[in-house]
Amino acid sequence: MSTSAKQAQRTVTLTFNGTDKILELPILEGTNGNQGIDIRQLFDKTGYIAFDPGFTSTGSCESAITYIDGDRGILLYRGYPIEQLALHSDFMETSYLLLRGHLPSRDEKQAFEQRIVRHTMVHEQLRGFYQGFRRDAHPMAIMVGVVGALSAFYHDSLDINDPEQRDIASYRLIAKMPTLAAMAYKYSIGQPFIYPKNNLGLVENFLHMMFAVPCEEYILNPVLVKAMDRILLLHADHEQNASTSTVRLAGSSRANPFACIASGIAALWGPAHGGANEAVLSMLVQIGHKSNIKEYVAKAKDKNDPFRLMGFGHRVYKNYDPRANVMRDTCHEVLASLGIDDPMLELAVELERIALEDPYFIEKKLYPNVDFYSGIILRAMGIPTSMFTVIFAMARTVGWIAQWMEMIQDPSQKIGRPRQLYIGPEARDYVSKDLR
Ligand code: SDX
Repeated sequence: MSTSAKQAQRTVTLTFNGTDKILELPILEGTNGNQGIDIRQLFDKTGYIAFDPGFTSTGSCESAITYIDGDRGILLYRGYPIEQLALHSDFMETSYLLLRGHLPSRDEKQAFEQRIVRHTMVHEQLRGFYQGFRRDAHPMAIMVGVVGALSAFYHDSLDINDPEQRDIASYRLIAKMPTLAAMAYKYSIGQPFIYPKNNLGLVENFLHMMFAVPCEEYILNPVLVKAMDRILLLHADHEQNASTSTVRLAGSSRANPFACIASGIAALWGPAHGGANEAVLSMLVQIGHKSNIKEYVAKAKDKNDPFRLMGFGHRVYKNYDPRANVMRDTCHEVLASLGIDDPMLELAVELERIALEDPYFIEKKLYPNVDFYSGIILRAMGIPTSMFTVIFAMARTVGWIAQWMEMIQDPSQKIGRPRQLYIGPEARDYVSKDLR
């Protein structure tokens, strides 16, 4: 049962200079010293809106799922530190934790995995959707299309007011994302789609569907399975980021879960968000060699140059992104165990060193984020760059669903409808064409 924020004894008093208007606003307190000024009555009581275009100081909801302390580089999934989960847990167990709020017993986890594995196949007619795309379509374009199309196939799990249907839709989405993703990859290289196997776990199934071919046995490499599992775990949720906020807003209109997740995939695609992992590798290729780093760091600092160091900076983390730490260690492990000496890793480590010594990055608190190293690991695993954000979407589907469920079950939930500050023309009369 999720608790809600407590009303603190203290309040905030808003006074309007030059008038006798005063407004007392309650302060709400969450966990870990999280607090907010409750401005829900601001417009009704004063006619003023709060203006915060990037929502840098605005909370959209109460949530018990993920906690981030950007100044201290802390990330908790349902209270558990991400570093501990990365070390001791796995993607399926962490998915259960995010969705249900507690770590599963052995039996609970087995039952959860069993239910997921039984939904990994997709309707045969969905395969036809892929034929409509060009072979060189970006796989994220395909994912936005086919995930939204799931709502045309699963009419028995569209009623968001029915808890059972919400549950089935959740299992279907988590289970089918890897299948649809692997199909997008196979389609792009002209190889036949590979069906999921019920004797494999979600991560093994994904790698099998990505790399197996009908003509020979595919042997799973446990190093790649563990690395992929950790990448999915680290990307599973991240409180109210752009794509999660998109899913919540779509869900607030009571749209069906497949449509909501498709909206999250679309938002994630942007290079300022989930598309950054693909952009990091393109940037490293563009930099090419360590000798060019200083030139590119100068470009990133130049206000007149749109170039930014992809994989650096974060809206919330003004300290190291704890996921980047784990990702960097995993990167070294994977490359060492595969015996790969990737110059891109060397370049990335040197870029990180130079950037973190630069006053501009220090002053603006720009550190590597989760996307900085993930692309190098995925490339080492043989995953094409265009699939990097698709893998991010596969992982984040768990967080999107957990957040969507939390919103739907919130009794105070209402349709999201931000206000605006109008700066357009005053009311004016229509001018007939012959007078223009
Ligand atoms: C993800 O929100 C989440 O939780 C997202 C995510 C998740 O798990 O869901 O963590 C995943 O999206 C990680 C971020 C991936 N994006 C990138 O790596 C793209 C590069 N980073 C930037 O685009 C930027 O840092 C953002 C978008 C991530 C954050 O932007 P903010 O918080 O809006 O900060 P800002 O753009 O206002 O930048 C503050 C200053 C600016 O300089 P000034 O205008 O103050 O002079 O820092 C500069 C920026 O120009 N800056 C950078 C920079 N990022 C910010 N300068 C050079 N290179 C960069 N990468």
